[in-house]
Amino acid sequence: MRKCGLTTNYERKTVKKPNIILVGFMGTGKSVIGKRLAQTLHYHFVDMDERIEVRAGKPITRIFAEDGEPRFRAMEKAMVQELAREQNLVVATGGGIVLNPDNIRDFSRSGLVVCLSATPDEILRRVGNSTHRPLLNQPDPAAAIRDLLAKRQPLYDAIPCQVNTTGKTIKEVADVIMAEVQRSRSERDKS
Ligand code: S3P
Repeated sequence: MRKCGLTTNYERKTVKKPNIILVGFMGTGKSVIGKRLAQTLHYHFVDMDERIEVRAGKPITRIFAEDGEPRFRAMEKAMVQELAREQNLVVATGGGIVLNPDNIRDFSRSGLVVCLSATPDEILRRVGNSTHRPLLNQPDPAAAIRDLLAKRQPLYDAIPCQVNTTGKTIKEVADVIMAEVQRSRSERDKS
């Protein structure tokens, strides 16, 4: 007989649980935090950008350069629709997912959407030297971050669950999100 409250491996694999979807600007920690959460919760981790690259057979920089940003956004939207039908996932989205409100609507139906944020200085520190982000491959990445953030801020702010990652460790951010997950689970159980 198993002790009350313990979860068997069988249950972990078969019980369907709402997804956790991490959104937020580039460099806010979606992938690193997502991996940690997936480990803790025994969920499957999906990095949307990586999946899109596998599907396209080329890196995002080449999708942007050869097919254009609208093509990338269409691939992103198709991937959202696909992932929103699954469960037990932690999804790290691309920073531009908020540009299409359908994406947030679809993901919200599939689970808890959490918006990660960081200050522009912190974002620059984390991603300033990266070469795989086409929107930041510019002579002045700091200005690109400021401009994009200014345009997108209202879209990020519209997400009810917000977690600021500046100055926090991976564990601290993951703990805050875990508390939100517990809260949303108990709200769901009550209704
Ligand atoms: C983008 C963010 C990137 C990637 C693409 C576009 C954006 O993902 O999807 O370069 O529009 O903000 P990360 O947020 O994982 O860097």
